[in-house]
Amino acid sequence: MKVIGICGSPRRGGNTEIMLRTTLEEIEKNGTETELVLLAEKNIMPCKGHSACLDKCPQNDDIQAIYSKAEQADAIIIATPVWSNNVSSLTKIFIDRFLWTAMNGKKLLGKKFGVITVGQYKHGGHEMAFNVLKNWSTDQGLQMIGDKQKFYSKFGAIGFGKKPGDVKKDLESIESARKLGQEIVKETKK
Ligand SMILES: Cc1cc2nc3c(=O)[nH]c(=O)nc-3n(C[C@H](O)[C@H](O)[C@H](O)COP(=O)(O)O)c2cc1C
Repeated sequence: MKVIGICGSPRRGGNTEIMLRTTLEEIEKNGTETELVLLAEKNIMPCKGHSACLDKCPQNDDIQAIYSKAEQADAIIIATPVWSNNVSSLTKIFIDRFLWTAMNGKKLLGKKFGVITVGQYKHGGHEMAFNVLKNWSTDQGLQMIGDKQKFYSKFGAIGFGKKPGDVKKDLESIESARKLGQEIVKETKK
């Protein structure tokens, strides 16, 4: 069993990365292999609108390796900072470039899916960013994890913080990241 975590923050070591690492550590405690993909370190160009997705995306950049990683994983987690009540630009580029896996025989069908959103405000647009990713997961045929939770992770894991490291001071944020990891292990092992 393998879980990949995609971090959509351009800020290395920032709150989104901290939250995602917390979730992945929780998953690893259960003996499950994980891999962290930092979009900030990758060369991924925005979609150029070729509409060539039914064949293969003609842009030969780092997204091609992430397609393979996603296809081989049992579960995928996307973590994004909330930007302007939405996902970050990096995360949006990732979403658009992943149209290929949805259009081309639903390559990710049935895999488990978790979401982490991180914002500076408690009501700063987490739900909007979450819904963008939830809708993306529906297009992909992924199975959302966390929606059975009553108090934690119902809408994915949620982090609050502004400066890098702030989420560590908010126990509820870290707890929701851990709970998401536990839930992913439980659901993926079924
Ligand atoms: C361009 C931009 C837009 C932002 N928009 C929001 C927002 O709409 N709501 C919010 O709660 N925080 C917003 N923030 C704050 C970030 O979500 C917050 O600082 C978060 O901790 C960033 O995560 P990071 O440390 O991984 O970069 C914004 C930050 C930036 C840079």
